[in-house]
Amino acid sequence: MKKNQRHTPLFDAILDFVAQAPAPFFIPSHKMGRGIDPRWLDFAGENIFKMDLSEVRGLDDLHRPSGPIAEAQALAADAWGADRSFFLVNGTSAGIIAAICSVVSEGQKIIVPRNAHKSVVFGLIISGAVPVYISAEVHAEKGLVGGVSKEKLDALYAANADAKGVFAVSPSYHGVCGDTRGLIDVTHARGGVFIADEAHGNHAYFHEKLAPGALALGADCACQSLHKMSGSLTQSSVLHIRGDRLDAGRLEANLRMTQSTSPSYLLLASLDLARSRMATQGRGMLDRLIRMSDAARRELAALPGIEAPGEDLIGEAAIAGYDPIRLVVSARRLGMDGYELCRILREAYNIEIEFGDHFYGICVMGLGTVQEDVDRLLFAMRDISERYRGRRAPLTPAGALPPAPPMAMTPRAAHFAERTRVPVREAEGRICAQMLVPYPPGIPVVCPGELITRDIRAFLDEQIEKGRHLHGLEEGNGIAVVRE
Ligand SMILES: Cc1ncc(COP(=O)(O)O)c(C=O)c1O
Repeated sequence: MKKNQRHTPLFDAILDFVAQAPAPFFIPSHKMGRGIDPRWLDFAGENIFKMDLSEVRGLDDLHRPSGPIAEAQALAADAWGADRSFFLVNGTSAGIIAAICSVVSEGQKIIVPRNAHKSVVFGLIISGAVPVYISAEVHAEKGLVGGVSKEKLDALYAANADAKGVFAVSPSYHGVCGDTRGLIDVTHARGGVFIADEAHGNHAYFHEKLAPGALALGADCACQSLHKMSGSLTQSSVLHIRGDRLDAGRLEANLRMTQSTSPSYLLLASLDLARSRMATQGRGMLDRLIRMSDAARRELAALPGIEAPGEDLIGEAAIAGYDPIRLVVSARRLGMDGYELCRILREAYNIEIEFGDHFYGICVMGLGTVQEDVDRLLFAMRDISERYRGRRAPLTPAGALPPAPPMAMTPRAAHFAERTRVPVREAEGRICAQMLVPYPPGIPVVCPGELITRDIRAFLDEQIEKGRHLHGLEEGNGIAVVRE
C-alpha cells in the first residue's frame, strides 16, 4: 500500500455536498430525508437520508468515474494490491456475471467448479458460454466440500485446451480455502484467465495469519463482497483486476449492463469507508477476532458431541487452509442436523446464525463481533451438548454423489427453452432447466442443460425417501425440465 489509506474521498465529497444544503430538485424523491416516513426518520436519524444522493455536482458517476469515485476506487486497488478496482452496488453477483461475460462469449468454454455460487450459472446463461465443470474434492468424513485439485484442473484443461479461463472460489461459504496458487499457476500455464470468487475472503489481505488472497497469488480478477467480511453495507462489493489478461474495456461495458444506472451513494460511501478502515486498522481488528475465534473453536471442539473443524481439515480434500473467523459447528454426533441446530439456537438462546445445512451451522464472526456474543454461543453449545448427549443416534455422512450427467444443451439454451415441471419419477431422460443441490455436500447433482440420467433419478428418489434437504426440489413442486 502506497497511498494515504486514511483518505476517504467519496465520503468527504458527500459530506461537502450535504453541508451546502442545496434546494434538491434531483432524484431521489424523498429530498434528502424530508419525504421519508417519520417513523423511519425517528428511528434512523436524518443524516443517513441526506447522504442518499445521486450523481449530483461533485459526486462523480460510477459508470464513468473521474472524480471522488475514481479516487476511491484507486485507493481500493492500492489496498488490495490490484491494478484497477470497480465498486459494485449489485453485490458480488453483478461482478461475477460481468467478469464471466468478459472472458467468454457464446459457445466458448470456461472451467467452473460445480459447487460455484448461482451467479456463476447466471453468468453462463447471459454469456452463452459452455461450462466445463470441475468437481471440488469432498471431505467425506467431515461432509464438507474441499478445494479443487490442481492436478485434476491441469488434466481437464489439457482435454479442453480451448477453454478461455478458470473460475474458482476460496474461501467457500464454509470457510474452506483451496490451493489458489496452484490453480492460478495451472491456468496461466495453459494461457487462461483466472477469476477468483472472494465473496467470503476479502479480509484475508490484511492479516498474515489468514490464507493469502488470490490477487496476491497472481489472480487476474477477484470479486469480493466487502459487505460480507469487510464491514461495508449489504449489497456493496468490489471487483479488482490485475494485469491485462482480462480486457478492462469489455469488463466496464459488462458492468454497465449488470449494475444499476442509479447506484446508491450510501453503498458507495460505505465501500470507501470500509476500505479505509480495513487498510488502516484491519490488522488489529482481525488479530482480536482471530484470537477470540481460535479460543472459541478449541472450546467448541472439546465439547462432547460437538465438532468445530479448523486446522484438522488442512491437507485433506485439496484443502489448503480455513478462515478462522468463521465458526463452523456441528452437533451431528448428537443426532442434530444443522437446520435444527440453527432453530434451537434461535428459539432457545436468541442466537441468530448465518446458515444451517445437513451437518453444520455456520456462525460468521466479523468486525463487529464482541466477546459477549461468542460467550453466548459457547454457553448455548455447552448446554446443547449436555442436554442432547446420548439421546439420539449420530447422523451418518451422505453417500457419494452420482456421476455428473452429460450436458445436452448449454445453460443458456436450457434457461431460454420452453419449460414444464415434471415429478421426479417422470424426470429420467429429460433435460433439466434448473439446478438441484443436495446439502451436504452442496454440489449440484444436475445443472441447467444437463440430462437427468437413471443414476440421478435414483439418487433423487433416495434423497426424498430419506428426507434429505435438496435445494431446488421444493415439496410437490417437481423439476423444471425443457419441454419436448
Ligand atoms: C461463494 C459466493 N460467491 C458469490 C456470492 C454472491 O455475493 P453477493 O451476495 O455479494 O452478490 C455469494 C453470496 O452468498 C457466495 O456465497
